[in-house]
Amino acid sequence: MVEPFRVVDLADWTRGESEPGGAEEKRWFTAPDASSQSGRWLFKPRRIKELTLSRQRRARGDAPDLLVRGEDWAEKISYELARLVSVPAVETELATVVRRGTEEAVLGSMSRDMRPERWGWTPGAALLAEHDDDFDSELSRGHSLSAVLTVLAPMNGPVGTEFHSWPAFDVFAGYLVFDALVANTDRHAHNWGVLQNPTTGVVCLSPSFDHGSALASGNGDVFRADRVRSGAVQQWCSRGVTKRFDGGVAVGLVDIAMQALSLASADARRYRRDRIVGLNLDLCDDVINAAPNLSDHTRTFVQIAVATNRRRLIDALH
Ligand SMILES: Nc1ncnc2c1ncn2[C@@H]1O[C@H](COP(=O)(O)OP(=O)(O)OP(=O)(O)O)[C@@H](O)[C@H]1O
Ligand SMILES: [Mg+2]
Repeated sequence: MVEPFRVVDLADWTRGESEPGGAEEKRWFTAPDASSQSGRWLFKPRRIKELTLSRQRRARGDAPDLLVRGEDWAEKISYELARLVSVPAVETELATVVRRGTEEAVLGSMSRDMRPERWGWTPGAALLAEHDDDFDSELSRGHSLSAVLTVLAPMNGPVGTEFHSWPAFDVFAGYLVFDALVANTDRHAHNWGVLQNPTTGVVCLSPSFDHGSALASGNGDVFRADRVRSGAVQQWCSRGVTKRFDGGVAVGLVDIAMQALSLASADARRYRRDRIVGLNLDLCDDVINAAPNLSDHTRTFVQIAVATNRRRLIDALH
């Protein structure tokens, strides 16, 4: 038995401002002095969507069915897997907070502020817009690997990590390999960015963040259980595409990772291959089993998905 991940209760933390980026209410919290988690963390609630009922069921007065998304466990599991494959990612914990007004307990995840004190953060979209007048982040127009390579060319990897001496694009290519591992389709131009040193003005790539839609977290338990029962998780993996690059065309997650690695250095390619080949699936299972309150089917789905995507990456890397 593995020790379950803790769920940090933010009841006695200081509430800060809400974060305008992204679709849902997110808020900054600061730990109390006595806490071991110093600093500022961004809390993101997991989302619950009301599904549209059939006319018949509406007429019957049924309450709407709820789709409980799993952004919280997807964020935490992805972060722990990122550590296993040496991808720099924002530190992430499961968390819970009581919503003011309704007093309802909300589950979610929180990530430690990736900006060292007084450092600035700029999304990839802003860098690309400077580089290309036609850049349109909504339509992914201008968000291509070659444009990312151009804007990251003068920079290094994330400050405070072993990758700070690496060229930023070599690290970015690792983010796309990681996305293929965890089936993260959401690497749009606001889901990566750069950090700026306030004293020197020098800019570096930020760690990876926003993995909340990985691992089919948005599809609901019924979808994942169906895929497990019908033996269709491998097929689901093979259909994993991103539409976040190249004007929105669908590109396989493994394919875009390989394209990125082909633009990266030989050292980065070798490093990434070694990390994926060396990824111990028993350790992945320990991570997945440590996530509290997952159904057995979801646990199995995630285990098969990670093992399958690792195998697909290994096949592509040889
Ligand atoms: N750990 C962090 N440190 C500093 N800033 C962060 C951190 N995590 C997120 N942010 C900022 O908050 C924004 C929203 O966060 P995030 O992308 O995780 O949420 P989201 O709602 O899932 O976004 P999306 O619209 O991409 O689905 C990010 O674009 C980034 O600007
Ligand atoms: Mg985001």
